[in-house]
Amino acid sequence: MRSRSKKTERDNEKKSLEKRNRLLLNYIKEKVNQLLRVMGTKPLREDELSDDDLINFDPIGIIAESFEQVLENLRESNRKLQTARDHLQAIFDTAGVGISIVDRDLRIITCNEKQKELLVRDVTDIDGRHCYEVYCGIDSPPLICPAIETLETGRSVLLKEVTKKGRTFQIATSPLKNNQGEITGVIEVSMDITEKKLAEEARRQSEKLIAVGQLAAGIAHELNNPLGNIIGYAKLILKENNLPPSVKERVNVIIEQAKRGNEIIKGLLEFSHQKFPQLRMSSIDSCIESALHSLEDMIEKNKIKIIKNTDNLPHLMLDPQQISQVVHNIVLNAIQATGKNGIIKITGYVKDRFLEVAIEDNGPGIPEEFRHRIFEPFFTTKPVGKGTGLGLSICLEIMKKHGGDIKLQSKKESGATFILSFPLRN
Ligand SMILES: Nc1ncnc2c1ncn2[C@@H]1O[C@H](COP(=O)(O)OP(=O)(O)O)[C@@H](O)[C@H]1O
Ligand SMILES: [Mg+2]
Repeated sequence: MRSRSKKTERDNEKKSLEKRNRLLLNYIKEKVNQLLRVMGTKPLREDELSDDDLINFDPIGIIAESFEQVLENLRESNRKLQTARDHLQAIFDTAGVGISIVDRDLRIITCNEKQKELLVRDVTDIDGRHCYEVYCGIDSPPLICPAIETLETGRSVLLKEVTKKGRTFQIATSPLKNNQGEITGVIEVSMDITEKKLAEEARRQSEKLIAVGQLAAGIAHELNNPLGNIIGYAKLILKENNLPPSVKERVNVIIEQAKRGNEIIKGLLEFSHQKFPQLRMSSIDSCIESALHSLEDMIEKNKIKIIKNTDNLPHLMLDPQQISQVVHNIVLNAIQATGKNGIIKITGYVKDRFLEVAIEDNGPGIPEEFRHRIFEPFFTTKPVGKGTGLGLSICLEIMKKHGGDIKLQSKKESGATFILSFPLRN
């Protein structure tokens, strides 16, 4: 009886031990699974490990292995991030537009190379400085600032035309937002539209030129005959005997004024004729000589010193009459600009694949605000009757028809230098 009750006691003890063991093993299993979940590894399946296996289970080993896996994943993500970052940086740096990112205080966080090239003025250390200091050269934000407008409104802003460092830009700003959608800064993009603007200007100019040419031709033909008649009849009056001196004087004024009108008409006709050049192998030096010859009286009267160095230049296919006219117009302008005792230098040289002729005077030069207009037909700063404003536009037309160009060198403070360039064809 006693031994029976002892056996029951032992059985009960064994059962309770087994129950405790099972609980313990379940606990371990649960904890291991939790650990595996944290490590990003799949949890154990029910049948995967027997209780015995679990007892031999090596949690430290699993953790180490999982760490290794996590580290490898991290390295891989890092590599991908670095590649994406490199790609982004390359796009950022090679974009044809200037890009900079500023914070809410308008301090530059970063900017690309193009932005530095386009807008930065004499500043080396850019990061952390205010964009208006670095890009606009001022101590406080300007009155019209697209970045401030973007910060205030949260919208993108476009400034269609801004002039900086002598070039024209379009500037666009967009808000930079964080994950919560708060604006943390502004992305500023600047695009240089100088060339585009010049091309548009040139197109407008040539359209205007065509229209003006047609109009000029019409007017010139209409006026030519009456003016010829006025001069003819006035000359007839002068031939009359016993003409009182006061009448003679007045008739001379009529002739003089009519001749002036004739000069303008000549200019208009030259301008509107747009003759195609009769090209032949010619010496540029002889064109210059012929132009100077036609201005001889004026050069002498004004005691102008001409320093000419245009010998030994290669001959070119050109229309000598037209090129003489170009040189004539430019030298005439130079004489008018310098007045008495002026100095005019004419120098010819070969540069790259062009023959260039520089015509330089020591007159007052051309004010900055007129420089872009001097080739426009009818643009003149001379008093009525003195200038028609057609000289340079005719020169430009002729040079373009020769495949060449004419440019005003604008670096000089005073004096004007016009450069004629002719392409050399081998
Ligand atoms: N050498 C020069 N120095 C100063 N200004 C010049 C010179 N050449 C041209 N200009 C300016 O360009 C303008 C246009 O010249 P042009 O087309 O020849 O017309 P015009 O001589 O009839 O005025 C001139 O009125 C003058 O203002
Ligand atoms: Mg002129």
